[in-house]
Amino acid sequence: MFARSAARQLSSVRQFSSSAARNTNVTVLGAGGGIGQPLSLLLKLDPHVKRLNLYDIRGAPGVAADVSHIDSASEVKGFEADQLEAALEGAEVIVVPAGVPRKPGMSRDDLFSTNASVIRDLATAAARVAPKANICIITNPVNSMVPIASRVYEKAGVYDPKRIFGVSTLDVVRATRFLAGIVGQDPANTPVTVVGGHSGETIVPLFSQQAAAAGITGEAYKKLVHRVQFGGDEVVQAKAGAGSATLSMAYAGATFANALFRGLAGEKGVITPSYVRSPLFESEGIDFFASNIELGPNGVEKIHSLGELTAEEQEYLKAAKDGLKKNIQKGFAFLE
Ligand code: NAI
Repeated sequence: MFARSAARQLSSVRQFSSSAARNTNVTVLGAGGGIGQPLSLLLKLDPHVKRLNLYDIRGAPGVAADVSHIDSASEVKGFEADQLEAALEGAEVIVVPAGVPRKPGMSRDDLFSTNASVIRDLATAAARVAPKANICIITNPVNSMVPIASRVYEKAGVYDPKRIFGVSTLDVVRATRFLAGIVGQDPANTPVTVVGGHSGETIVPLFSQQAAAAGITGEAYKKLVHRVQFGGDEVVQAKAGAGSATLSMAYAGATFANALFRGLAGEKGVITPSYVRSPLFESEGIDFFASNIELGPNGVEKIHSLGELTAEEQEYLKAAKDGLKKNIQKGFAFLE
């Protein structure tokens, strides 16, 4: 369901003449980086964006000057390292790819100590300057960064769990693309829902809910799940020390942001997976979980249950829950 709309969304991003209301003020934090630059480019093309503020501790004014020459209607402004609050002023959507990426041999958790402080500081400023904004966190490890940001908002007395999103869209994009490649179909026809979290074993693609995957069983199925769970490593290795996924992530980030813009604008039935505060496994001590959510004017409108799972998917889910519990605890512990 989602990937079909992902493909449609990209084509609407490409069509500058779309009639969508240009009504959202967006701030990108980390706009000078490997993800931040192409993401800013794609957001400049999105017809929902009215104003695009680009912030980074280095390089954002240059990116802004460059992107601002693109002949779409939104206004772009760049901000220096000491202008974080000004960059956040009036933001309705904040997208955060700030922080360090992986190098070969690193897990997402290895980024924790550096990125936890980045997210704590950025969330503190966002909670103060734009407390009602929807915040989309790309920075890894997403599984721990979303709890950190949530706790920061809570401490500031402005926590609205419906407005904090962990961007797990790249897992959906990968699952959909990899499956399409195996079965020889257009990815627009093989959308896959991915649940759990965003790292290794916490990523659980639900291939049983996509008819095109019905013939993939046994070792081939296990290989496919493994490729979705560890697909990021392919990019990290291929880039050989120069970082992790940036271009496919920018696409995924822009696709998620576009879904959020459409929900905020009142479009009905905008459904996509995201890692959010969730009641699904709360009773097991897992406060955050990625599943299909419906987006609306207030952010998260509805959290969908997982639907029927096969015995194999139940096993993957169990491993995901074990990992998530630790990642969430680690996030909370950082602020104590
Ligand atoms: P990068 O190093 O190319 O860019 C990061 C940018 O963040 C840099 O420009 C840096 O100056 C900036 N930055 C650092 N601290 C900052 C602060 N306090 N305030 C504002 N900006 C700050 O890294 P890249 O490749 O863009 O990755 C960014 C993050 O996204 C990493 O944590 C990476 O692991 C994560 N990521 C997430 C994915 C997902 O699916 N959610 C997929 C791929 C990467």
